[in-house]
Parts: sequence; C-alpha cells; structure tokens
Amino acid sequence: MKLIELQAINKHYNLGQTQMTALKDITLNFDKGEFTAVWGPSGSGKTTLLNLIGTIDEPSSGTIFINGKDVSKMSDNQKSDYRNLQIGFIFQNFNLIPVLSAVENVMLPLQIRNTKTSAARKKAMQRLKEVELAHLADNRPDKMSGGQRQRVAIARALVTDPDVVIADEPTANLDLATSIHIIEIMQKLNKKEGATFLFSTHDQRLLDRMNRLVKLEDGCVV
Ligand SMILES: Nc1ncnc2c1ncn2[C@@H]1O[C@H](COP(=O)(O)OP(=O)(O)OP(=O)(O)O)[C@@H](O)[C@H]1O
Ligand SMILES: [Mg+2]
Repeated sequence: MKLIELQAINKHYNLGQTQMTALKDITLNFDKGEFTAVWGPSGSGKTTLLNLIGTIDEPSSGTIFINGKDVSKMSDNQKSDYRNLQIGFIFQNFNLIPVLSAVENVMLPLQIRNTKTSAARKKAMQRLKEVELAHLADNRPDKMSGGQRQRVAIARALVTDPDVVIADEPTANLDLATSIHIIEIMQKLNKKEGATFLFSTHDQRLLDRMNRLVKLEDGCVV
C-alpha cells in the first residue's frame, strides 16, 4: 500500500464566469519515507497539489487515498485528526508566534494535544538540537535570521513525529547557501526518522539535491 495515492485528480477554480484549471489529470503515488520535491514555475499548481495532500483543500474530481483510505469518505473529524496527528506543515513565511521563544514555538503542537509541559519541553529541545539551534532555544523569532526561523519551523513540524511533512516553498525567502542548509537538514531528518517529506520549490539551483522530482507545468505532471 502506498502512503499517498492521487488518482486522476483535477482541480478547477471558478473565477466569476470563467473556470481556471489548476491541476489536470494528476496521477501520482508517494511511498513512506520518500523525499520529494514538487518543482515548477509560479502558477504551475504546486501549492494546490500540496494543499490537496494536506487535506486543506478538495479536488474537483478524482480520488486521493491516504494509507489506503479515500479522503472524500473521511468525516471532517477524521480529516482534522489526519492533519493534526500525521502531518507536519512548514510554511514559506515560517508562521512562528512572535511572542513565544523558539522552544515555546516548537512545544506548541504538543501542548495543543495536552502533552505535559515538562515532556513537551524535553521533546522540543531534542528537535531544536537536531536542527542545530539548541543554543537559541530561549530567543524569540525576531532575534533570529530567516534560516534560523525556518529551522525552528522544521523542529515544530517534526515535534509530533508526523508520517508526512509538507513544506510549501520552505526556502523561498532564503539565500542559496541557507536554502541548501535547510534542504540538508530536512534530508538528514528524513533519513533518520523515515518520515515522508514533500516540498515545493521553484528554485532550479536546488534540484540536483533531490531524491525524486515531480515537475509541474500548467497543472500537469511533465
Ligand atoms: N483560490 C484560488 N482561486 C482562483 N485561482 C486560484 C486559487 N488558488 C490558485 N489559483 C490558480 O491556480 C493556479 C495554480 O496556483 P498555485 O498557487 O497552486 O501555483 P504555484 O505553483 O504554487 O505558484 P507559486 O510558485 O507562485 O506559489 C494559478 O494559476 C493560480 O492563479
Ligand atoms: Mg505556491
């Protein structure tokens, strides 16, 4: 069984009278433990694809199976359980909470799940150590560089031990050297943890570092 299966996925957006097709007849599988980049120019459908896999959005037609389960047959509760328990999200703009320190940001997903503070802090510190940021645990995001903030976001995405980490353009706001460092950290965690990493990028300079590449153009896999 594949971890994620997309079968004949189409996604249309209605813009007044006209219809815009963001994804056309996408059939793709992702195995457990994969490290895959979705690459394509702006507007090619990368965010749309990742949002469908993250069950943030629904396809217009076609079927998505996650662990063999048809997503369209899941209840809202089942979908939010999947999002909360099995996925870690990393965003282009980091989405850290400015008034919390790095370690408090990383603890947050555990605290939402009622993990005791001491256990959450311990786990968060482990994750910060893995992204080489233990020494900045008590700093707030505004005292950190972009690359450091994104590493906090990676630690936060992994703190719940998700099956899938979804990262939409995690390096878009970073310079090349920092982007490569971020990719290498994700790769290391992918190897160590076996979590599936799916991320998007439009940066061609990062492509030779990918294990698998899904190229999108005008909503089609090419
Ligand atoms: N909510 C929406 N309503 C209407 N059209 C949308 C919506 N979201 C995306 N689109 C359109 O769907 C297409 C794919 O968009 P998407 O955001 O998935 O591209 P992308 O590859 O992530 O681009 P970028 O690299 O700029 O982030 C684009 O043409 C976009 O204009
Ligand atoms: Mg996008």
